[in-house]
Amino acid sequence: MQNVIIIGAGLAGLSAAVTLAKENISCALISLQNSERAQSVLAEGGINAALNTMGENDTVQNHYEDTLRGGVYLADPNAVQNLTGHAPEIVRWLENLGVPFNMTDSDIMLRNFGGQKKKRTAYARSSTGKIIMTALIDEVRKYETAGLVQRFAHHNFIQLLLENQNCTGVRIQNVYTKQVTDFKGIVLLCSGGMNGIFPGRTTGTTQNSGDVTATVFRQGVKLGNLEMLQYHPTTIGISGKRCLITEAARGEGGRLYIIRNQQKWYFMEEKYPELKNLMPRDVVAREMYFVRRELGGEIFLDMTELPEIAWEKKLSDLRQEILHYLAVDPKTTPVPVREGIHYFMGGIDTDVLHRTNIKNLYAAGECTCQYHGANRLGGNSMLGALYGGRKAAETIMHTADFKSEENQSYTGKIFPPASPVLIQEISQILLSGLGIVRNQNDLQTALRELEMLSQKKVYSFYEQNRLLLAKAMLLSALERKESRGAHYREDYPEKNEIFRKTAIAECSPELNIRISFRPIPEKRSDA
Ligand code: FUM
Repeated sequence: MQNVIIIGAGLAGLSAAVTLAKENISCALISLQNSERAQSVLAEGGINAALNTMGENDTVQNHYEDTLRGGVYLADPNAVQNLTGHAPEIVRWLENLGVPFNMTDSDIMLRNFGGQKKKRTAYARSSTGKIIMTALIDEVRKYETAGLVQRFAHHNFIQLLLENQNCTGVRIQNVYTKQVTDFKGIVLLCSGGMNGIFPGRTTGTTQNSGDVTATVFRQGVKLGNLEMLQYHPTTIGISGKRCLITEAARGEGGRLYIIRNQQKWYFMEEKYPELKNLMPRDVVAREMYFVRRELGGEIFLDMTELPEIAWEKKLSDLRQEILHYLAVDPKTTPVPVREGIHYFMGGIDTDVLHRTNIKNLYAAGECTCQYHGANRLGGNSMLGALYGGRKAAETIMHTADFKSEENQSYTGKIFPPASPVLIQEISQILLSGLGIVRNQNDLQTALRELEMLSQKKVYSFYEQNRLLLAKAMLLSALERKESRGAHYREDYPEKNEIFRKTAIAECSPELNIRISFRPIPEKRSDA
């Protein structure tokens, strides 16, 4: 029996496990994949912290303001204050765990990243996620040996166990033996983004299927800002997925251009002379969409002017990746790039303490709607996962009511995942409504198509959940009648203060979906 059941063994899950185990609170770490294959290992560019090691007078206040501005003021300022305030200490902690960050002569080196004027992103070449995960996996192993963390890899989340709107545990299933187990205890969801909703269109692993989010939504958990999908400006297409070209390439001097009148047009530099190619991702992705619509043809990322030292010490892994997948050397040849779905700012709605609307159910990491508002800054995702996992674990330690109930196992039926055909059909419908540029007509058409698909046949429990989640995403986008961050409506092209609110999606027991708007909390002085 464990006190806390963590669903997901990526950065947020590991961070929570370490925090709990340090205080002698035991946890079960349940995941479909081993940590070595979690989405977090794919993170490339780095992690933000106002360490101010580059002599630029950076401060936590700057980081706080950039994060709020980047998210177009849709994030909870108290949560962002906590996140950015703890960032320097978190990066120092990682350094102490042995993460080999790139260094100046004396301290951690920082690089430029999007939406920030100061160098603030600590990194380990361009494999930062993998390197941080390696250190954390090792840290967790200590507690595994002590029996405080027990791992259950290759297990599928089936559903929450609920009694009178209280969460009492989770039902999971061993992927291989099909044995079903009811784990009893406090539940923390760290199940990652919903990449599996968009196979072939995302930089993330489709093993993060979105099924956990879809299922808990159906079970009464509120979701927030589902319309906020981040398109990363620089991705390349490789066998069935989008592969990330890290923003660090632009941080180190990479430039975007398109051919106009037979000349290279560095459109971001002309349109945004201050931050140029490093505007926040929503702005860059939108500009790419517009210039391509106007001129046709490809957009290129030109890294040919990068100094040798950048290739040797900072982006060596990126060069290998491009050589491997495209057989092109980015040192000498510009690379054609496209926008690709990269991150979900929306997800499970939590308060600043990472509590959901269900008692004894908490959430952290990319599965939540927390910290990033309408657009996440590059470099804030690993930070959000590490800090969020820790904060959720602290809340659990300080407030949860631990009971000791035995887990129960039994031989279960096979719970089939959604069919690949249905997943593709839903994805196509969503993409037709939730592109970089949206409008009422497309969203309503997408909703009608989804409704027709829903009526077509009898679907399994998982399939119904995915259809419900898709509907909630489209409805959230339809109801937000403004443009803000990643949500751009050509029929409402301006930001509207009336909508500076979190779009909350709720599913009733009768499976009706309701969207409402909740005001953003005021900044408290004691946050
Ligand atoms: O471009 C990147 O390296 C992505 C980083 C991030 O999403 O934080």
